[in-house]
Amino acid sequence: MAQTTLAPAAPSVASQLHGWDHIEWWVGNARAVTAWMASGFGFDVIAYAGPETGVADRASYVLGQGDIRFVITAGLGPESEVARHVLAHGDGIRHLAWRVDDAYAAASTAAGKGATVVAEPTSVNGDAGTVTTAAIATYGETRHLFVDRSGWHDGWGPGFSSDRLPVRPAGPGVGLALIDHVVGNVEQGRLDDWVAWYIEVLGFSEMRHFDADQISTQYSALRSTVVHNGAGVVMPINEPAPGLRKSQIEEYLDAYRGPGVQHIALGTRDIVSAVGSMRDRSVRFLTMPAAYYDDAKERLTGFRLPWEDLQRLEIEVDADSGGYLLQIFTETVVDRPTLFVEIIQREGATGFGEGNFKALFEAIEREQARRGNL
Ligand code: FE2
Repeated sequence: MAQTTLAPAAPSVASQLHGWDHIEWWVGNARAVTAWMASGFGFDVIAYAGPETGVADRASYVLGQGDIRFVITAGLGPESEVARHVLAHGDGIRHLAWRVDDAYAAASTAAGKGATVVAEPTSVNGDAGTVTTAAIATYGETRHLFVDRSGWHDGWGPGFSSDRLPVRPAGPGVGLALIDHVVGNVEQGRLDDWVAWYIEVLGFSEMRHFDADQISTQYSALRSTVVHNGAGVVMPINEPAPGLRKSQIEEYLDAYRGPGVQHIALGTRDIVSAVGSMRDRSVRFLTMPAAYYDDAKERLTGFRLPWEDLQRLEIEVDADSGGYLLQIFTETVVDRPTLFVEIIQREGATGFGEGNFKALFEAIEREQARRGNL
């Protein structure tokens, strides 16, 4: 594919994105993390790349459920950039990948606005066509990947095979459908810079802002701004704010050794069924005291909600002018207190559970205290 020449009025990067392509985790043991995401969260393993498929230096498993695609990758030697990333950060998120029509154009637009291109556009051929990717740097060592699959016809991509995959674990399905939002943590004082970067460089817009007085407990506080591309890519960014004790964001930054992805929110049409199934599959969630439900029933009198199920499963509720949402947060899903997963069901509400922030952060602080980090 030839380098695309851009006209002066080139569309923004934001307008070139067709939503999430995948999220790539860089981990120490891809086989084990894959098994955990399959058994606990109900993902199917849909493709594999490694020495058996001609990829010498890494092993990658592709997980699929609804429209969600995770790639779980581990390096196969100490010289691997994946291994080096894991040594620094523990298991975490390396690539936030977006689908585009033209990876050359997306990278060129981003570079023209000042983004750092860390992987030039590259087309890789395989038995089902061509996939073109390019990468730019964002917060910490996290990367955004532009993925053009328009020239690819079958399966995941070059180097991946769907032969001899691990079998699906037994148990009822979970029913996770899509990536709702992906949240990053950055250092204190850097939030506004990163928001400006997403707006000015990538053409995103600001959706919401929460100041420290809106997101605080007795002990700790944070500031958060949500940016989005207007077509399904929603990215809140947090920074710690001064508080009496260590903010959960500071704990993350210490443990991850810098900025990175804090949580991935996965949408479902039936959170009661999804969380029931995940609990049966041994996923653990933050706990919510009974008093939360007494308070929530008073806050949310306008909605007919299955309170018994919500309290039994410790699912939280919030509402805004558009409707309500149900949400729940796992404990951290990796060894360090860094990455976790949110499950969310939106019934008209477009917020992020603002009414639950205080109760949730108190739940997180109970976990911080168990780790001696509060
Ligand atoms: Fe969230």
